[in-house]
Amino acid sequence: YRSFGIDRNNSMGINLANDDQLRTLAEQVNAATRNDWRAAPLVPGATVSGPQVAVTNPADRRQVVGQWQAADSATVERAVQNAVAAHDAWNATPAASRAAILEHAADLLEQRMPEYIALCTREAGKTVPDGVAEVREAVDFLRYYGAQARKQFAVEPLPGPTGESNTLQLSGRGVFVCISPWNFPLAIFAGQIAAALAAGNSVLAKPAEQTNLIGYYAVKLLHEAGIPEAVLQFLPGDGATVGAALTKDPRIAGVAFTGSADTARAINRSLAARDAAIGVLIAETGGQNALIADSSSLPEQVVKDAIASAFTSAGQRCSAARVLFVQDDIADKVTHMLAGAMAELKVGDPGLLSTDVGPVIDEDALKMLRDHAERMDREASKIAEVALDGDAANGSFFAPRAYTLKSLDQLHKEVFGPVLHVLRWKADQLDAVIDAINATGYGLTLGIHSRIDETIEKISSRVKVGNCYVNRNQIGAVVGVQPFGGQNLSGTGPKAGGPHYLPRFATEKTITINT
Ligand code: SER
Repeated sequence: YRSFGIDRNNSMGINLANDDQLRTLAEQVNAATRNDWRAAPLVPGATVSGPQVAVTNPADRRQVVGQWQAADSATVERAVQNAVAAHDAWNATPAASRAAILEHAADLLEQRMPEYIALCTREAGKTVPDGVAEVREAVDFLRYYGAQARKQFAVEPLPGPTGESNTLQLSGRGVFVCISPWNFPLAIFAGQIAAALAAGNSVLAKPAEQTNLIGYYAVKLLHEAGIPEAVLQFLPGDGATVGAALTKDPRIAGVAFTGSADTARAINRSLAARDAAIGVLIAETGGQNALIADSSSLPEQVVKDAIASAFTSAGQRCSAARVLFVQDDIADKVTHMLAGAMAELKVGDPGLLSTDVGPVIDEDALKMLRDHAERMDREASKIAEVALDGDAANGSFFAPRAYTLKSLDQLHKEVFGPVLHVLRWKADQLDAVIDAINATGYGLTLGIHSRIDETIEKISSRVKVGNCYVNRNQIGAVVGVQPFGGQNLSGTGPKAGGPHYLPRFATEKTITINT
């Protein structure tokens, strides 16, 4: 990029279309796969004594891949004390030095890509291409927030027309809690932490309970890169002992959270109820994401992008397409082609390069999806269901499906998995389609397929979403290129991987000197 004069620093990753590169990577991932990964709280001075809990492979629950230990209340308390004590020195460290450590961590992560892909595959059920994307995004976040800190945390001189000197300076807020999701256990985990650290905060990192191993090895790498151990502490554990205890603690300055809207509201209430400074919440929540295709769009492209948007990562992306609104003139063709394309999808072991769709994260997710499918089988018309093979019974596999609905009201909440719902619309119903999408209250991603500029302009200007994608798929936002995050029920903003994210982790100080 630099040779084109473009100021970008995204990870190059690997070329997934190159069979040799892919095969070499798969061999490296296999070689890096272990059955004795370990995770435990990383809190200087705490004694960790809880039981070891087995971590199993979502693709085959008979395989143990490691063990983890939870933080107890005493460990959480010790971590908060450490974080408070460590904050001032970290905040006083020049932003350029903090950035240099994050950039070093990015380099280390890039060098160790196979090991982290292996963790993502075996603990989170990610396919190898998803694992590559996961590592690349984490690398991008580390570099991007480092670069933003260098730029945004420099002292900014302001006008002083009356002979005064005025400056504006950003600075860390204090102790930040980062509560991250299992669906991007490395990328979002590292992204939240990198932003909070870059801005000068000390960080308490709480991973999702399903992905403690990945979080642990990410924190170890950041320590190795030079983040002091008391500045970044790792607190795996259950929501009540760790998450809820931290969000009501008056010593916490803010929380970065990615997960459900209900939990985000609970965190907000908890922060507000404290007899303390008003806490900051940066929440990235769910979506009921739609893709609108009109009769001018290319059915082949609609189907290709709908499949990628709905079924990549087993549909477990908050950006994933859940509802395809297709204009009736092309609807028969699109649904016919959709069924044909779905028949080609291979569901199975995410460690195999032939696999398109891996398992869902756990038995709870599987039950939610099965309950939804049971209701859809009664209330909607099935377009296709992908076949599962016999081995699927050993893991939490759910066959991708597509249904034609009669109304959007048939979806009561976000269905977090590989299910695509199709609704037909007539030429005079475009406004009603946009109104229905806005009425869900969510506003994360929207796909538009059309070759009519006026239609694209009308939809993209009227729909209340954070990320709008035209004539392509609607997943895989790139750090610094497509800042990501939604509106309303989908999150508070600011967007991750965008220029406004870092200042939310910071306070601002104006200094005026009468010269
Ligand atoms: N950032 C992810 C994507 O764009 C979703 O969380 O797919």
